Amino acid sequence: MAEKEVKDFVKKRYGKLAKGANSCCSPCDCGSPIDDVALKIGYSREELNNIPEDSVMGLGCGNPVALASLKEGEIVLDLGSGGGIDVFLASRKVGACGKAIGVDMTQEMVDRAKATAIQHGYKNVEFRLGEIEKLPVENESVDAVISNCVINLAPDKEKVFREAYRVLKAGGRIMISDLVTEGELPAEIKKSFDAWAGCIAGALEKNQYLDTIRTAGFDRVTIVSESTYDVDVSPELSGKITSLQVMAYKE
Ligand SMILES: C[S@@+](CC[C@H](N)C(=O)[O-])C[C@H]1O[C@@H](n2cnc3c(N)ncnc32)[C@H](O)[C@@H]1O
Repeated sequence: MAEKEVKDFVKKRYGKLAKGANSCCSPCDCGSPIDDVALKIGYSREELNNIPEDSVMGLGCGNPVALASLKEGEIVLDLGSGGGIDVFLASRKVGACGKAIGVDMTQEMVDRAKATAIQHGYKNVEFRLGEIEKLPVENESVDAVISNCVINLAPDKEKVFREAYRVLKAGGRIMISDLVTEGELPAEIKKSFDAWAGCIAGALEKNQYLDTIRTAGFDRVTIVSESTYDVDVSPELSGKITSLQVMAYKE
């Protein structure tokens, strides 16, 4: 599938969601209330109560902030920040001396997250428009990179991980939550734009995903947790889609 076509389709889909259309990315409970989806993904009720409601869109596939061991004063970058859920959670962990930055290529998502930040008086967050394959972020400027159900949407995943490596300080880490596959997906699903924008068709096979992270330069690539999704999109996908949480370091 052509890279530009995929990105235009993804932008259109998430632009509509940012403006209030009801759907979800991960293949779970798309008809359920957003909070129920978020709780199932791995957020706690307490976490959800402490961030703006507008930032919770039920689009993730894990809770990377809970696993990233963020500390006061750190600078954290969220790839594909959407409505900002993980940026707002991270901002509480890094505190007033730290900063949480979100990057997203969909203008409507960035507008929504910025408006939420202003409305709720967040001072240590920033949302930037940009592609995660070409991050609008300085070299060696962040302590941690997080991402939640986004990299599967990017046609060139190695480029994304190389960019994450570039912007991390030495000793920095990535904590990525994403969907991967167990084995290959059926060809007709791989070709579907809808399945791509729904975070399925673009997902890499698990070992290939881990190798891509290593190829980008990361060390100590470790699966922190994983769980297989019950996918009702197609019986052929049963047992084939896994939500993976992976940590790795720039030594
Ligand atoms: C499934 S949503 C996840 C949003 C957020 N991480 C969350 O958990 O709620 C995917 C987001 O990634 C953004 N995105 C997809 N591909 C991107 C790319 N190549 N560069 C920047 N943003 C991208 C989309 O615009 C969308 O906001």
